[in-house]
Amino acid sequence: MKRAKNTISTGASFDLNQFLAERTEAVNRALNRYLPAVQVKPATIHKAMRYSLFAGGKRMRPALCLAAAEACGGTDEAAIPLACAVECIHTYSLIHDDLPAMDNDDYRRGKLTSHKVFGEGIAVLAGDALLTQAFEIAAGFKPTARYATAQIIQEIAVAAGSKQLIAGQVADLEGEGKKLNTAQLRFIHERKTSALLGCSARLGGMSANCTPAQLQALTDFGYHVGLAFQVIDDILDVTQSTEKLGKTAGKDLTAQKATYPAIVGLEKSRAIAKQLTAKAFESLKPFHGKAVALAALADFLLKRDC
Ligand code: IPE
Ligand code: IPE
Ligand code: MG
Ligand code: MG
Ligand code: MG
Repeated sequence: MKRAKNTISTGASFDLNQFLAERTEAVNRALNRYLPAVQVKPATIHKAMRYSLFAGGKRMRPALCLAAAEACGGTDEAAIPLACAVECIHTYSLIHDDLPAMDNDDYRRGKLTSHKVFGEGIAVLAGDALLTQAFEIAAGFKPTARYATAQIIQEIAVAAGSKQLIAGQVADLEGEGKKLNTAQLRFIHERKTSALLGCSARLGGMSANCTPAQLQALTDFGYHVGLAFQVIDDILDVTQSTEKLGKTAGKDLTAQKATYPAIVGLEKSRAIAKQLTAKAFESLKPFHGKAVALAALADFLLKRDC
């Protein structure tokens, strides 16, 4: 997707293209350092971890983390380990989400899914290993005046745990074939998607020793951007091609998933995504125009076509 220079709510001109290209490269370099090399025994698991991690994801959670750090006057250096940790968690969640026992998908990030290449057993273990790797990376966080390393670990554990991301995945599975209402669907989206996006923004702020008011603003921002993200994901599943998405399009309908387009229709879904993004912009007010990267990201995530 073409990412033009953006003039967002702040009025400042900001080159999101450049921001994403630079930050993605920095995150990829760091991930490459953190992950065991493919030769490290057992080679199969390290190959599988790297296969999915470097398959070409958009790196939106790391971008949110780094943009939040920047908004709070922090450095990439302090935020990058946490950006890597959230990407490991995200990639693990995708590997497991694609398993035959869950969404049963053959393609992810434009390539065959992990279980198609390595078999289900190794795919389960690659997910487990990436989840664990995230905590090993986060454990290296250098505490700031306001945030201890244990707090960072707790933040990630809660977002990825059985009351948040996992809860969303459970409700998503249990919602298959059922006619859910919008409140029930909102419950799923808050957990399976918004929890980790919100956590990514919060971690960026924490790495920058953000104030409680800034942390609250990032929480509100991440919550709304996270919800908009999943509404758009549901829309793209209906409107885009498999080639464009890098994952099989139209799967939600086949699997009888509860989605916004299925419940309220495409047009209303688009309006909801817009409203949620407007709320995300509003959350940035306490930054007084300093959160240009976050604002540009929210705008980009609304307009994305893959
Ligand atoms: C897909 O996330 C899963 C959802 C939560 C909707 P992304 O769209 O961020 O996937 P990648 O990382 O770019 O592959
Ligand atoms: C995935 O949601 C959410 C998590 C992996 C936590 P989806 O099932 O909608 O994601 P895609 O469409 O397969 O990427
Ligand atoms: Mg799913
Ligand atoms: Mg899925
Ligand atoms: Mg989806």
